[in-house]
Amino acid sequence: MSQKTGHVIGDTKSTTVEAITSEPFSVGEYVTIESKQGAMLGMVEESTVHSMLLSDVPTFSDAAKLVELSHTNTRDKKFTSRISVVGAMDIIGRGRSEIPATPPVPGDVVTSAGAGDLGPVFAPEHGSWARIGTLLRNGDIPVKINLDKVASRHVGILAMTGMGKSNTVALLTREIVARNGTVVIFDYHDDYTTLGIKRTNILDAKVNPRTLGPDEFADMLDFRANADKQRGILERALTSNVRKDGDFWTALVEAIREIGETERNNKAASLRVIEKVNTAKRRLGGMLDPEISDPMSLIKVGHANILSTSEFGERQANAALSYYMREILDDRKDATVSRRHGKASRSRFATPVFVVIEEAHAFVPKGHDTGAKYWASRIAREGRKFGVGLCIVSQRPRGIDIDILSQMGSFAAMRMIQADDQRQVEAAAESAGQALVGQLSTLNVGEAVITGQWTGLDAIVKVDEVREKAAGADQSAVSEWASDLKKRRTGIERSGDMIQKDLLLKK
Ligand SMILES: Nc1ncnc2c1ncn2[C@@H]1O[C@H](COP(=O)(O)OP(=O)(O)O)[C@@H](O)[C@H]1O
Ligand SMILES: [Mg+2]
Repeated sequence: MSQKTGHVIGDTKSTTVEAITSEPFSVGEYVTIESKQGAMLGMVEESTVHSMLLSDVPTFSDAAKLVELSHTNTRDKKFTSRISVVGAMDIIGRGRSEIPATPPVPGDVVTSAGAGDLGPVFAPEHGSWARIGTLLRNGDIPVKINLDKVASRHVGILAMTGMGKSNTVALLTREIVARNGTVVIFDYHDDYTTLGIKRTNILDAKVNPRTLGPDEFADMLDFRANADKQRGILERALTSNVRKDGDFWTALVEAIREIGETERNNKAASLRVIEKVNTAKRRLGGMLDPEISDPMSLIKVGHANILSTSEFGERQANAALSYYMREILDDRKDATVSRRHGKASRSRFATPVFVVIEEAHAFVPKGHDTGAKYWASRIAREGRKFGVGLCIVSQRPRGIDIDILSQMGSFAAMRMIQADDQRQVEAAAESAGQALVGQLSTLNVGEAVITGQWTGLDAIVKVDEVREKAAGADQSAVSEWASDLKKRRTGIERSGDMIQKDLLLKK
């Protein structure tokens, strides 16, 4: 196969050039421009195929003839590309990109970039960098991401359902854990229970109610945000004595009852609060446990900790996330400050922790404040100092708080067709070129636009599949029905119930 090649044509700029090529180039493909100043790296932003013969077709009956002519006439097709200039190759190889002072010159040769050019840019040989896949348009080039930036500068993973978000999270998790890092995934839909990577620790996101802040507690009891009176009663009842009481629930209910009995205008509300407490106790008994000494101690260092919040409703999961994020940030603060002062620390996490929030539009929503949102935003702002990395995962980017989303230093964006979602990604990922964002609706499963601090250069990547994992895999209803029928048949055969068996087999 002859190599695709071309020439720069028309007016050139330092930032963009046009090229005429032997074959069409693909959008997102990297090319080299051989310029007198030295080789430059470019990326194809737009690729156009033009046919002279088929441009101005007078009538339908002319079309058939012209199509044939166009097929046989090799000179009829013109392939042009708009190429954005990324920078001089020698500088890029050293990890920087700089637009050259003078533009390429018309006539300069354009070729598809090879492994020699792109290897050092996308796959540096360094332990902090982990492979995530290959370039989609230059398929033989491996792409790595910088885990140091993942763990300190945060990541957004955004795409429609089923496009490969959880797979990407699984991949990052595997690489971090392989380097003895600690990952905490808040798993709202039990998508990660079969993560299939070594050192996975699956646990319920249990909470000790004694340690909850008043707002977290009210959320756990599923109070509405504006239930001020009930929230007020609960806050006052949660005294330090009640928190310490050997029989926590009884002490709490007593304290609430007392408020109702001494304050007439709080009588009815306090009864409702007691009702809520009893409902929560009944429904969340195992998750809301005043006797667990320290739920945080169940998180294992150097493991992928999958914290299931699937037993909770949304508001309650929110309170759980708020609690865990607060504890993790406080713990890492303590560890960092102690270390700085050369003091021994009682912290659980001596090294940085990576926290993943799935369904982020629910926990870090645009428009209203939640406890989880408060702590996510604290981590987004302070995490770098204290070694807490945040990963925001969502199929509804437009529903996520833009301030927090903008704090994500890196992004993987997969297929997304809603214009609102695309706009949100563009607004949050300052570095992402419009051309790349424009590609989002054309991507297939597992293909991602990678942008930000974790990559040498923006790229469209075919992400590796973490095979062992069945994270969020679509269930096949048909195969489940079939295997169920098989089971029932064998069961019936054993019981010898021929009539029923006949009925089933007739289908
Ligand atoms: N990089 C990939 N390569 C190939 N297939 C993938 C890839 N990522 C995901 N898939 C497939 O798509 C399915 C859904 O992926 P998942 O990561 O659960 O998507 P999401 O979390 O965005 O809903 C997976 O079960 C897997 O079969
Ligand atoms: Mg998922």
